[in-house]
Amino acid sequence: MATSPSHSASFTILSSIILYIFLSTSTARAAGGRWTLLQKSTGVSAMHMQLLPNDRVIIFDRTDTGASNISLPNGKCRLDPRDTVLKKDCTAHSVEYDVVANKIRPLMVLTDVWCSSGSLMPDGRLVQTGGFNDGDHVVRVYDTFCNGVCDWKEIQLGLINRRWYATNHLLPDGRQIVIGGRRQFNYEFYPKSGNSDKAYNMPFLAQTNDPNNVENNLYPFVFLNTDGYLFIFANNRAILLDYMKNRVVKTFPEIVGGEPRNYPSSGSAVLLPLHIVKGNVAVVEVMICGGAPKGGYVNAMNGKFEGALSSCGRIRISDPEPKWFMETMPLNRVMGDMKLLPNGDVLIINGAASGTAGWELGRNPVLRPVIYHPNKAVNARFEVQNPSTVPRMYHSTASLVRDGRVLVGGSNPHIYYNFTKVLFPTELRLEAFSPSYLDPTLAGSRPKIILPATHTSIGYGKNIVVRFTVQNKVILNLISVTMVSPSFTTHAYSMNQRLLVLDGGNTAKSVGKSTYEVNAVAPPSGNIAPAANYMLFVVHQDIPSEGIWVNIH
Ligand SMILES: *[C@@H]1O[C@H](CO)[C@@H](O)[C@H](O)[C@H]1NC(C)=O
Ligand SMILES: *[C@@H]1O[C@H](CO)[C@@H](O)[C@H](O)[C@H]1NC(C)=O
Repeated sequence: MATSPSHSASFTILSSIILYIFLSTSTARAAGGRWTLLQKSTGVSAMHMQLLPNDRVIIFDRTDTGASNISLPNGKCRLDPRDTVLKKDCTAHSVEYDVVANKIRPLMVLTDVWCSSGSLMPDGRLVQTGGFNDGDHVVRVYDTFCNGVCDWKEIQLGLINRRWYATNHLLPDGRQIVIGGRRQFNYEFYPKSGNSDKAYNMPFLAQTNDPNNVENNLYPFVFLNTDGYLFIFANNRAILLDYMKNRVVKTFPEIVGGEPRNYPSSGSAVLLPLHIVKGNVAVVEVMICGGAPKGGYVNAMNGKFEGALSSCGRIRISDPEPKWFMETMPLNRVMGDMKLLPNGDVLIINGAASGTAGWELGRNPVLRPVIYHPNKAVNARFEVQNPSTVPRMYHSTASLVRDGRVLVGGSNPHIYYNFTKVLFPTELRLEAFSPSYLDPTLAGSRPKIILPATHTSIGYGKNIVVRFTVQNKVILNLISVTMVSPSFTTHAYSMNQRLLVLDGGNTAKSVGKSTYEVNAVAPPSGNIAPAANYMLFVVHQDIPSEGIWVNIH
């Protein structure tokens, strides 16, 4: 039966309306990112997260929470006379999450990893240090490349001092530095170079320790400057440290307003993208956002949950006389995570609008992430994103993965796992935030890398011919090549987080149908990029390809 003309016309109008609604919702999505629930339960709450260069994420919490929500495999149990809660525990407190398969595998961690730190080594192993109680001097190694069967190996007394709330950073010589921790005003290295190896005093950490014993300088924000020294921010100010000679080479001014930014005030920080031009990085800039105001911790302990800070400070640490430039976030936030996205934008995600870090001390979850565009005009930099429905309070984390999504997990402001009768239940759900660059409507403009193969090894300063395809018309001068390090995330801070914009992005040219090549140049030295595994992306019109792993040495 033929459709009557009027029926057909109204059908066309109706379908245009539906199409219009569909397009406008998908544009709304494109503008604000998208949330996906990946796992209803990771079994352990994600207090710490590290992406490995085989696309698995190591997640761990603490061993002294009592039973977790995932059993150890094959009926295994952990017998630990020193555990403060369970002497015999048949549940796991660490898991490996396979990003590609979306699967969880329980792991056996033997000693307490609570509020610890870590970093990947140049060969891709995860070396994690310290924790609490029987774990505070322990070094734990996770071999990444073992076909999905590895587990933690523990080195008792691997550390000279106890390290609880310390910060680690990978160094150009292949070691990690382990800085501070509660009541530890010193640093040490791992691996040790022999018996002569010692801990080095760091008066700056004593000076920035809050006199009311609230500290506000734990998990100091540490970034490797391109001159080889370490930028270290604690409480409300920073130094540049020559860690080899144990000498302060520069003192930076206090952040404008003087508010504390480190744990438990718990703001976040990033090293903004480093642009390499002819083997040099002209501008090195650090950005710090949010936190709880001075006195916020003591007030929260007394039931007064103050509004979190909305200010961010940017400082060009490469300037002869660096000064703070302050900006205001559209949403105030404490315990937020700042994550570098492959296109050089900064995602500010998780956390609360009042209170502070610490047991039961956060209020008013901030469900909306914000994207910060570092190079846009001052008034056009912050962009509020679509909200999640899951509060991510104290002990929550976020991790960039190779396909450009950001995994979001954890949140447990309680001493134990409490799923009921509490304000913010222990959170085991794992979500992904997909920034708008992953919207399907942009797929035609997204580059796809075809060369080099993933896990290619590249020497400093060497050419990297990157071949890629793009379906839509390419704007050649909007191509860049970036490298992002997989960072260790806990307590609102990502250790070792670094993004390099490689030289040579402007050499992009067409080499065939929908196929292009760009001659990028690997970073020139370990000061600019410590030898390690990085994710390499081609970015077109701010849309990143899926990354490939490269090993820089
Ligand atoms: C704990 O794990 C079980 C499956 O083993 C699951 O059904 C349950 O929802 C989990 N509980 C929480 C709070 O995630
Ligand atoms: C959390 O659960 C533990 C038992 O696992 C219980 O002892 C404790 O009182 C609970 N805490 C709260 C705040 O309900």
